[in-house]
Amino acid sequence: DWRQRFRGQLRRWYARYGRELPWRNSHDPYRVWISEIMLQQTTVTAVVPYFKRFLARFPDVPTLAAGEENDVLRMWEGLGYYSRARNIHKAARTIVADFDGDFPQDVAALEALPGIGRYTAGAIVSFAYDRPAAIVEANTLRLYSRLLGYEQDPRSSGGQRLLWQFAESILPRKQPGTFNQALMDLGATVCTPADPKCHTCPVKSGCRAFQSGTQDRIPVAQKR
Ligand code: ADE
Repeated sequence: DWRQRFRGQLRRWYARYGRELPWRNSHDPYRVWISEIMLQQTTVTAVVPYFKRFLARFPDVPTLAAGEENDVLRMWEGLGYYSRARNIHKAARTIVADFDGDFPQDVAALEALPGIGRYTAGAIVSFAYDRPAAIVEANTLRLYSRLLGYEQDPRSSGGQRLLWQFAESILPRKQPGTFNQALMDLGATVCTPADPKCHTCPVKSGCRAFQSGTQDRIPVAQKR
């Protein structure tokens, strides 16, 4: 069916055009977690050097938990949104205190940690453990809104419900982590916010926005 076709198109595209990123050559949930928190409000290019420095200073959960909050904040200096750093530090201490330093493995336990929402929990579970967990973040929100030709606000509660449901329904049981990474790369490099590169898109044949030429209007601008 169309889901199988979409997954195949995406998988082949990713094998050829997927990006090499320093947090991808590992299934360590700690590395996945730190990179995803850094990437929440910051571009890939800006994150890479911070990620490498942070991992050199704090290579694992116990080391991070044993550090002082000020040391963690110093490693974060320049990245902004410092509550992210405070939450990471708090979460590391919780993982040591409540889970013996072992990363929780299910979405619900992860979501209970400070700074970890539905998206980050899904990213950790799918990237680190390759277990099926859906994700919706900025890139997938845009990609799915266009694919579905969704002309209402995808950030509204109704839009979120629809997109998460769609993300669950299209997620493959086989290699869900690779599928999720591929979605993010397609969103970041082809299905871009401005001037999407539809002519090179592997899934354009199933894209409602492309078919109706509405890709520049979807997703609708964020109300502010
Ligand atoms: N943006 C958020 N998470 C990402 C990831 N894992 N790879 C690339 N871009 C991202």
